[in-house]
Amino acid sequence: MIQPPLSRLKTKPGNQESVSGTFSAAWQSPSNIALVKYWGKKNGQFPLTPSLSMTLLKAFTQTRVDVVENGAAKGFLSVNGDENHPFLPKIKQLLTWLGSEIPILSTVTLKVITINSFPHSTGIASSASGLSALTLCLLDVASEMLQVSDIPRAESDHMASYCARVGSGSACRSLYGGYTVWGETPGIIGSSDEFAIPVNHSIHPEMMLLHDAILVISEKPKILSSTLGHSAMHDHPFIGGRILQAEKNLDEALSALAANDFGKLASVAESEALTLHALIMSANPGVLLMKPATVEVIHRVREARRTGLPVFFTLDAGANVHVMYPHSSAVAAEKFIGDALLPLCENGRVIFDSCGSGPQPIADVNPAS
Ligand code: DP6
Repeated sequence: MIQPPLSRLKTKPGNQESVSGTFSAAWQSPSNIALVKYWGKKNGQFPLTPSLSMTLLKAFTQTRVDVVENGAAKGFLSVNGDENHPFLPKIKQLLTWLGSEIPILSTVTLKVITINSFPHSTGIASSASGLSALTLCLLDVASEMLQVSDIPRAESDHMASYCARVGSGSACRSLYGGYTVWGETPGIIGSSDEFAIPVNHSIHPEMMLLHDAILVISEKPKILSSTLGHSAMHDHPFIGGRILQAEKNLDEALSALAANDFGKLASVAESEALTLHALIMSANPGVLLMKPATVEVIHRVREARRTGLPVFFTLDAGANVHVMYPHSSAVAAEKFIGDALLPLCENGRVIFDSCGSGPQPIADVNPAS
């Protein structure tokens, strides 16, 4: 039986001497691609709608956390030696909340080293992989300091998903391999707004091998922060319709994944991607994130599917396109991508990825891995 999140780590630090020593942890955690999108929040860091994602294999972050001092609540933090690292606001938000939930973490000064397997300039969202890797490290450090060593993996993954959500919503889905649902949904037992759950028991084995080629259409940083984008949903004219649509699409995507129905998954995932952009365009202020090449890729993917190649596209909140295809058609799909889509990518950049198995502890960060 899974205990309530964090109950084992809530112990208040007593005598600071008792937790002196060197403490560190290192984890590798993957990014994920949403097939049913999380867009909009309610009551803080809870999702407006449920979402469904596939965890990636090759797009990951490796993070190492060292306690450089303890016994005093300094709250100071650096990432890769940079005190102005772009992730610091999200990291601080997570750490402040974690410090109130796990008191020992409010007494330490931390040094964070983090590297991504994918280049920064690709515009691939790294908050899911980065914040999930960091959360796993922080929970390990807290466990070490409190000498709690017997937390079963299912329970620690559950705790990590519960905590990672506070740093970045999509990060809570990266704690598991395969497919993950975040958001309370009638009909999905155990689903919650507070953490994500794996749903692999109901996924067809072929769908566990799905490929995702990430087409880098623009290497420029995103022009819309997801934080601002989510907040524009509060007074969005289509909010009511979006909530109903996401719930229906989640149902349909899950039944397509269970039945290995690629065509049905394609239609739901593409509808979700275009809806995300339609919501962003019709918000106040409206933002147009697609580039001409994004639109051209969409046309070419749909045309290829019409002529029998099993491919579909999805989009994040940016110009890049994820092209998904089954393992059994990988040779044909990759030839199509190379011939027809690669010329539309900036500097010919495509990252070939696939469904992955989730985070793993590592000895240290290693840029070569
Ligand atoms: C478009 O997880 O980056 O990728 O909770 O503010 O950190 P925060 O937002 P974030 O939003 C991801 C939005 C998305 C869709 C998705 O991944 O579901």
